[in-house]
Amino acid sequence: LSTNQEMTIRHQNGEYAVRFLSFREIVAALPSGCRVVTDDNVFRAWGRFFGPELVVLRVPPGERSKCLRTYGRVIDWLAETGTDRLTSLAAVGGGVIGDLAGFAAATYMRGIPLIQVPTTLLAQVDSAIGGKVGINLVQGKNLLGSFYPPKAIYMASETLQTITPRHFRNGMAEVCKYGFVLDQHLARVLAGERLKPHAGNLGEIVRRCVLLKKSVVEVDELDKTGARAVLNFGHTVGHAIERAGGYRMRTHGEAISIGMAVEAELGERLGITEPGTAQEVRSVLRKQGLRTGLADWFDVAGLIALMRMDKKAERGQLGFSLLTKIGECKLVRNVPVSEVESALRSK
Ligand SMILES: NC(=O)c1ccc[n+]([C@@H]2O[C@H](COP(=O)([O-])OP(=O)(O)OC[C@H]3O[C@@H](n4cnc5c(N)ncnc54)[C@H](O)[C@@H]3O)[C@@H](O)[C@H]2O)c1
Ligand SMILES: [Zn+2]
Repeated sequence: LSTNQEMTIRHQNGEYAVRFLSFREIVAALPSGCRVVTDDNVFRAWGRFFGPELVVLRVPPGERSKCLRTYGRVIDWLAETGTDRLTSLAAVGGGVIGDLAGFAAATYMRGIPLIQVPTTLLAQVDSAIGGKVGINLVQGKNLLGSFYPPKAIYMASETLQTITPRHFRNGMAEVCKYGFVLDQHLARVLAGERLKPHAGNLGEIVRRCVLLKKSVVEVDELDKTGARAVLNFGHTVGHAIERAGGYRMRTHGEAISIGMAVEAELGERLGITEPGTAQEVRSVLRKQGLRTGLADWFDVAGLIALMRMDKKAERGQLGFSLLTKIGECKLVRNVPVSEVESALRSK
């Protein structure tokens, strides 16, 4: 896999660097007086590295902190600590902290410099890259937000050693997705062995995924041309599974793992996906410790109804990012419901 120690991501108003460092180096690279938003779990594992020159706010861990109330707390704290337009805000944590603190940085004083320090596998390969920030409303996930590219992204592989196995698998689902939609070689590596948090090649694989996400967001920064839609493979079904379980039964990664297996099956049924691909997809996901079958208690009709309500559905028509083969993907609109049902029922 070809990767670099440092990358530059271009966007409409400039560019930012992604640097792969140790956590100690990251803290040293933060500007003095930098505001840091993190959560209690990250602080417990990595807070000892924060020196007195950093002004730190801790919020409770978990998706529930990605809300208006906690956003208000962050903004109040920025104002109370005398943060001005030139002070940087570092988001040190998983996707929740990146989205929450990123949105605070985007809006406080109409925008202050943001440094993303993603500490989960999902955040490193996905959520910290590409400039989407935001919070949830009671009416739905990610309903309030903006595009706000950071000034820099710093990440350390070592932080992945303290996340739970479940959160590691959660990120692995996205890693597998990159292989399926964009990188046949990566998919082959993932088919061969189960990736572990201590694996010597983990850093290389993370960098590869960052490079792949960079290649997509650079051509479709604002999610308008359809190029970014390839990242949605497995997500039409996955989002419905997450919602059907009230976001408590399945993590995002667990849901899209099943979603990718179902959508690969769907692609084969529609004659879009090369035969045998669904089997390969399932085998890679299982190798990485992820499940690929829908539990029996899921109500297929209910899932279909949820898919029609998906952000990506247009006027109730079902749209999917489907594989043509491993490493290639395209957007397919107006997929017949009956085919989706059959794919959901196949095990
Ligand atoms: N902005 C985007 O483009 C984008 C893309 C995908 C997902 N997301 C968002 O990302 C969020 C999910 O992110 P996530 O999976 O990282 O969840 P998360 O931020 O909740 O982190 C998962 C758990 O790991 C803990 N944790 C984080 N880093 C740790 C570390 N190094 N050591 C020990 N514990 C640690 C957290 O406290 C939390 O309990 C969702 O809100 C989702 O909407 C955003
Ligand atoms: Zn995802």
